[in-house]
Amino acid sequence: MEVIQHNHPWNGYYDPDILNEKLRQYRRLGHIVPPRKIIKNADQIEGIRRSSVINTAVLNHIATHIHCGMTTQEIDKLVYDFTIAHNAVPAPLNYEGFPKSVCTSINDEVCHGIPSDDIILKDGDIINVDVSTILDGYFSDASRMFMIGNVTAERKHLVQVTKECLELGVKAARPWGFLGDIGQAIQEHAEANGYSVVRDFCGHGVGLEFHEKPEVEHVGRKGTGMLLVPGMIFTIEPMINMGTYEIFIDADNDWTVLTEDGLPSAQWENTVLITDNGCEILTH
Ligand code: MF3
Ligand code: CO
Repeated sequence: MEVIQHNHPWNGYYDPDILNEKLRQYRRLGHIVPPRKIIKNADQIEGIRRSSVINTAVLNHIATHIHCGMTTQEIDKLVYDFTIAHNAVPAPLNYEGFPKSVCTSINDEVCHGIPSDDIILKDGDIINVDVSTILDGYFSDASRMFMIGNVTAERKHLVQVTKECLELGVKAARPWGFLGDIGQAIQEHAEANGYSVVRDFCGHGVGLEFHEKPEVEHVGRKGTGMLLVPGMIFTIEPMINMGTYEIFIDADNDWTVLTEDGLPSAQWENTVLITDNGCEILTH
């Protein structure tokens, strides 16, 4: 078995007395402070790191195998086989009834697309592959866009700006800042490019469960929302639409989220850790 290793800088230790005092101060000032159980300790951080390393390896595996003419069911099989071979479990499989191991969302599908033998990747498609992994009980979550063959300049631009939205959101994530800092950074960049930010789906705490507190909105105002604290782990996963941000859910499967106007949507996602001096992308 191939050994996947990654070196990370923060050891996860933060002086508990200083943390407690700071939490008290911010609470007194009227801020929303995170509940204890979503502030991870060093052992939990290490577990989530290791899960993230596998999750990244799955996405890299997809990146080398994805091609025009394949079905999204084949992507599902690649994800399932690779994950199991690394002693991990695909988190989406049977999650609240989701029938497959990965979400594959093409063009006007915003998220939660279900892999199928009937869906064939064709020239010009843009597709989000959203991979989530459980290793030793620890969860990680990340997604990337792939462009199939000759993609129009318009679609390429949407994919690029959405990637930048994620990067700007990550840059805005730092200890003793606020969730609204992330939302504002993403919203400003998307809207400056004439796009809209999906409201109905958010990023989320992740690690000990698939979806934990907080909800990470991709719109917002600097200085508002939950305080960010060293040891918090959550996803940032902006869904950016070329047209309206309105969405609907496919009535046939109750999962797939589509743009109301049929225009394309893009999404990039990472799991991040708030450290003692900034933010670390775990799913790199
Ligand atoms: N990254 C997606 C999310 O957090 C993964 C969804 S998996 C599904 O919502 F099973 F819920 F579809
Ligand atoms: Co997610």
